Amino acid sequence: MDSFLIKGGVPLHGEVAISGAKNAVLPIMAATLLTPEPCVIRRVPKLSDVRFMGQILAWLGAKVSLEGDTVRIECRKVKGQADYDLVRKMRGSICIMGPLLGRLRKARVSLPGGCIIGARPVNLHLKGFEALGAKITITGGYVEASAKRLSGSAMFLGGRSGSTVLGTANVMMAATLAEGITVIESAACEPEVVDLANFLNAMGAKISGAGSPTVTITGVKALHGADHEVIPDRIETATYAIAAAATNGEVTLKGARADHLHAVVDKLREAGVLVERCGPDLKVRRHGRLKSADVTTLPYSGFPTDVQAQMMALMTLTPGISIITERIFESRFMHVSELARLGADIEIEGPSAIVKGGKPLSGAPVMASDLRASAALVIAGLAARGTTQVNRVYHIDRGYENIDGKLRQLGARIQRIEES
Ligand code: EPU
Repeated sequence: MDSFLIKGGVPLHGEVAISGAKNAVLPIMAATLLTPEPCVIRRVPKLSDVRFMGQILAWLGAKVSLEGDTVRIECRKVKGQADYDLVRKMRGSICIMGPLLGRLRKARVSLPGGCIIGARPVNLHLKGFEALGAKITITGGYVEASAKRLSGSAMFLGGRSGSTVLGTANVMMAATLAEGITVIESAACEPEVVDLANFLNAMGAKISGAGSPTVTITGVKALHGADHEVIPDRIETATYAIAAAATNGEVTLKGARADHLHAVVDKLREAGVLVERCGPDLKVRRHGRLKSADVTTLPYSGFPTDVQAQMMALMTLTPGISIITERIFESRFMHVSELARLGADIEIEGPSAIVKGGKPLSGAPVMASDLRASAALVIAGLAARGTTQVNRVYHIDRGYENIDGKLRQLGARIQRIEES
């Protein structure tokens, strides 16, 4: 397993290009299952999760080819059942279920388990499929949805923690080929849902309201091929912005979408970080001393759970007390004990982490536990004195394109140690 060796204390300077959004491209790739015609997806990030989704689609019968950052997918014939182990490996692959159900009226997918950040049930996805008229059965570790006909209906997809991103995506995809009108109430408003709706509309779907809590889908008989460019990754953007602030550097984020980052930019400003729009780019640098800030994660347009760990890394460097509350996933604090190895003082109380910041961090060997926790450890390592070894970086390769290369371009002393 590869690891990163980081010699900290170097302010990041320069420009970094933002890649396409992982959480947009995965459901968009799955949506190509809805048509036998070829689709072209552009600005596709080179990530292990994307490769993995390509493998799942190929297993289902699709022709998948990658050239530069463009993926061509043609699903002339598809199977209704996905390989058990392939799907189980990546939780995001649950979003093949909606398009399979829409196209074949039948989908059989291994039930995704919990993961390190929480239980991650799919009850809301299944509730939506049932509302469209599908019968759901769970046997032998598989969940199966089947329907003679899918009929549009009104449904409420809000859960304990609010809306569901992939649940909204899944039901929206199935409903494009249902008969009649579907209305999803308490739909997720994330930009990735809007990007998927734009792709589906380019395929001939009739979706309105995406980006609001009420999404209306008028079913159509068939969808056709489409050509689509994926939105820039707002979580990658936030991660580099925080890395710039943590190292007291100055970084330009090329091609970032500031309009997808209001909550993060607002919090960074409160913490003493200047974030300026320069045309299509964002320029980030500290504005005086860092200040403590309290953060609560919420569904979009609130502060994203996927930036909670990185923000916590920044708050460990900030004099004073910051309270970081996680409201989306119940156990997304795995980075806390690893940040403590670098000298951070953080106490967990229920859903909140109390960060007593301002003590200098010093390098140590740490273990990445999930994608965003790994990003937080890299940020802390870049800001710490001495050398930090981040082990198990395969987690970070799932969601950040060439992070070590991009950071080196900004002047960071980071090296990938490949394990043979
Ligand atoms: N939930 C339910 N029932 C469901 C579905 C979700 O109770 O049927 C709960 C979850 O347990 C959680 C909350 O609803 O408490 C929100 O989960 P959501 O369904 O929105 O998460 P997701 O769609 O499975 C996507 C991203 C995650 C990101 C979340 C929240 C992808 C591939 N994954 O997951 O991304 O954290 O939305 O924004 O789009 C990451 O990139 O690191 C990552 C984990």
